Amino acid sequence: MKIFAIFGNPIKHSKSPIIHKLFANQLNIIQQYKKIYVPIDKFNNIINNFFKNGGYGANITIPFKKKAYNICDFLTDRGIKSGVVNTLKIIKNNKILGDNTDGIGLLKDLQKIKFIHKNSNILLLGAGGAAKGIIYSIINFGCKITIVNRTYKNSYNLLKFFNNKKNISIIKIEDIDNIINNKKINYDLIINATSSSIKGEVPKISSKIIHSNIFCYDLFYSINITPFLEWCLYHGAKKISDGIGMLIEQAAYSFFLWHGVMPNTELILKQFKKKYFF
Ligand code: ATR
Repeated sequence: MKIFAIFGNPIKHSKSPIIHKLFANQLNIIQQYKKIYVPIDKFNNIINNFFKNGGYGANITIPFKKKAYNICDFLTDRGIKSGVVNTLKIIKNNKILGDNTDGIGLLKDLQKIKFIHKNSNILLLGAGGAAKGIIYSIINFGCKITIVNRTYKNSYNLLKFFNNKKNISIIKIEDIDNIINNKKINYDLIINATSSSIKGEVPKISSKIIHSNIFCYDLFYSINITPFLEWCLYHGAKKISDGIGMLIEQAAYSFFLWHGVMPNTELILKQFKKKYFF
């Protein structure tokens, strides 16, 4: 039986074991998938032991995606371009392959719910690891991204990392009002990739970014509406979605990397919502 685990800190609330169990049941695969709590300075030891002791694949979550990237012997193209990985797999000679399925998972969900098209003009809130993991797939699809973040320097570092001046720009959070007024820019989609929702907060940004046709997507998800999406509705948005769909899609791409078969994510999303979100 192949053994998998998700590694993170915190990890208690991770839904990945449930999702991978649903995938495995759907495809008649027998596997074990557990949650492993990792003290902040112990990531390399714990992950190496896991693979030495027969682990076959791993998901990596906050705050270890960059560390996971650094321990890989090989990377997929998505892994290289993202600079962070959320999926590991043991390959020949006990080498570790790393992949990033967050970006493609988000893109897939945005396409399914019809929130995105090739020319979408996207405002991305946040410039941390979560933002970094999704930028490549979105740009590669053809969209333009403007990054806005509480700390400008972090936006600047992301811009430098991607070095794609054609499709990525950054603006200061305090300038957004003027930019929208003067340049009459309308964003088609706004993605919240900050970790503010975890603390029940909303990024302090001008509500002028919201208009009735904008799509609003929060990478965060919860049983109740997220603070960010509530804020969007309050300011006139009509089309909102949280990140449950992305959670399932990114997991499906990890599953595919490990098993070579893709689960039917629509069925799983329904099952998952029925069982765990009611
Ligand atoms: P993650 O890996 O989840 O992205 P991170 O690397 O710590 O975590 O990044 C968190 C992101 O959320 C950052 O962009 C952070 O802004 P700063 O760069 O200014 O720290 C953003 N963030 C967190 N809490 C926020 C809040 N209350 N309001 C606005 N932005 C917030």
